Amino acid sequence: MAVRLFEDEEHADSYWKYRISPSEELIDKVLHFHRSNKKSANDLAVDVGCGSGQGTLLLAPHFTCVVGTDISPAQLEMGRKHVNIPNVSYRESPAEELPFEDGSVDLVTAMSAFHWFDHSRFLQEAHRVLKPNGCLAVLNYTMDMELSYGDCSETLNHICNEVRVIRLILSEHLCVLHIL
Ligand SMILES: C[S@@+](CC[C@H](N)C(=O)[O-])C[C@H]1O[C@@H](n2cnc3c(N)ncnc32)[C@H](O)[C@@H]1O
Repeated sequence: MAVRLFEDEEHADSYWKYRISPSEELIDKVLHFHRSNKKSANDLAVDVGCGSGQGTLLLAPHFTCVVGTDISPAQLEMGRKHVNIPNVSYRESPAEELPFEDGSVDLVTAMSAFHWFDHSRFLQEAHRVLKPNGCLAVLNYTMDMELSYGDCSETLNHICNEVRVIRLILSEHLCVLHIL
């Protein structure tokens, strides 16, 4: 991993105080896309690079179990300390080595975090942990970045460009993909 920021306690504390949550409208878009696949289930959602969990919490009403993962213990501690929802938990892990069984996750999200990951290794992990009809949602302030995965990089980038949704307020962009 080339760059590791956001990790110390002071930063995590500020992050908890000042980080603006992704809009519910944006989360609704992800859920709508997820549900559009009739075989999708709502058992487990994993929010990768969850920080102090503001976005993770928005998934809680829609899944039996929601797990936020992050490489920073300080960020995760902020999430645990401030909100306690029974079906939400947090686990320390790099995005590139997710602590889940093969084919066990319905939705993987990365909210304003994908740009920090090793893209190729994260996409492989997302592919590994997602169920066959699972969904990967990459939310970011910009989609001005390239995805690279096996021999389908060109197709992936094409799909992302087609489905990206520009949010006016935060200029958040969204890319959602179903795993085949
Ligand atoms: C900009 S913050 C976004 C946090 C949260 N998703 C949100 O929307 O508020 C990026 C987060 O990614 C985490 N992160 C960076 N690199 C990571 C990696 N390789 N694996 C897991 N988490 C990582 C950081 O610790 C940080 O909490």
